[in-house]
Amino acid sequence: MLIDETWFALLCESAHRPGVMLNGAPLPAFPPETLQRNTTGKAGAQAIIEAFAFYTHCRAQFARMGRALSPAHSLLDFGCGWGRIARCFIREIPPANIFGIDVTPEFADFCKRAFRSHNFIATPALPPTPIPAERFDFIVAYSVFSHLSPDACHAWMAEFARILTPGGMVAVTTRGRDFFATCENLKGRATDSYSAALAEIFPDFDEARRRYDAGEFVHSNIPGVSGGGAMNASFYGESFISEAYASTAFSKQFELSAFVYEPSSVEQAMLFFRKR
Ligand SMILES: C[S@@+](CC[C@H](N)C(=O)[O-])C[C@H]1O[C@@H](n2cnc3c(N)ncnc32)[C@H](O)[C@@H]1O
Repeated sequence: MLIDETWFALLCESAHRPGVMLNGAPLPAFPPETLQRNTTGKAGAQAIIEAFAFYTHCRAQFARMGRALSPAHSLLDFGCGWGRIARCFIREIPPANIFGIDVTPEFADFCKRAFRSHNFIATPALPPTPIPAERFDFIVAYSVFSHLSPDACHAWMAEFARILTPGGMVAVTTRGRDFFATCENLKGRATDSYSAALAEIFPDFDEARRRYDAGEFVHSNIPGVSGGGAMNASFYGESFISEAYASTAFSKQFELSAFVYEPSSVEQAMLFFRKR
C-alpha cells in the first residue's frame, strides 16, 4: 500500500492533472474550481489538505475503536458533495465499496461521473433512504452535521443506526467552540453576505457559549446561513454539538468513542461513534 505522503501527493496531483492512476484506475476527476469553492470554501490541493486531515483522523480512530479500514469494508460518505472526502478512502477501500449520498442531485450526478460508479445517489433532506439495513461498516460526514438542525441530526443518526452493520462506526463533524468567537469577530468586518449573517447568528454570543458549555445543542438558522439550493432553514444552518450533548443524546443506539477538537489540523470538531 502507498505510504501516506505518496497517497496525499497523488490526490493533490489529480487536482490539476486528470488521469492520475491508482491500482490501474484513474483517480476521480475534480469539478470546476468555482463548484469546489462553493461547497468547501477551498479548491485544489487546499481542499485536499483539509479532507486528508479528516481522513487521517478517521483511519486512526476507527483502528483504535477496533475496526481498521480494509478492502472488504464498505463506506458511505453522507453529504458527499463532489466526493472530496470519499476519494481519500480509495487507498484502503475499493471504489466498488464506496458510496455517497447528497441532498443536492447535481453533486450525486457529478460523483457518479467522477468515480465512474452508480454508488452515488441523491437523497431527501430527511430519511428514510432506500439503503438496506446493516449495509455499511463506516459512515463519514464532513461539514454536514455542522449545519443540520437538531431534528435532522437525530433523524439521520437513527437512519445511520439502521444502515450500519453491528459495531459499525460513524465520524461526523460539527462547529467547534472557537467558531462562536470567529462569528462574533466578523461584526463590522464581514466581506460577503454569508460572513455578515454569521456575525448575527446569535443575538448574544455569551449566552450561546453558556448553552453550549451546559451541554445543549446550539443551532441557528437565521436568513443567510440556511444554505440555498436544496438546503433551507427547516433543516440547515449553523450547528454546535457539544461533547456533553453527543455523549448522551444518541446513547440508545451509539457509544461516543471520541470527541476530537484539534483546530490546527481539522477546523471542525470530530465526533466518532460506534453502533451498540
Ligand atoms: C459544506 S458541504 C461539505 C461537502 C463534503 N462533505 C466535503 O467536505 O467536501 C455540505 C454538503 O452536505 C450536503 N447536505 C446538506 N444537507 C444534507 C442532508 N440533509 N442530507 C444529505 N446531504 C446534505 C450538501 O448538499 C453539501 O454537499
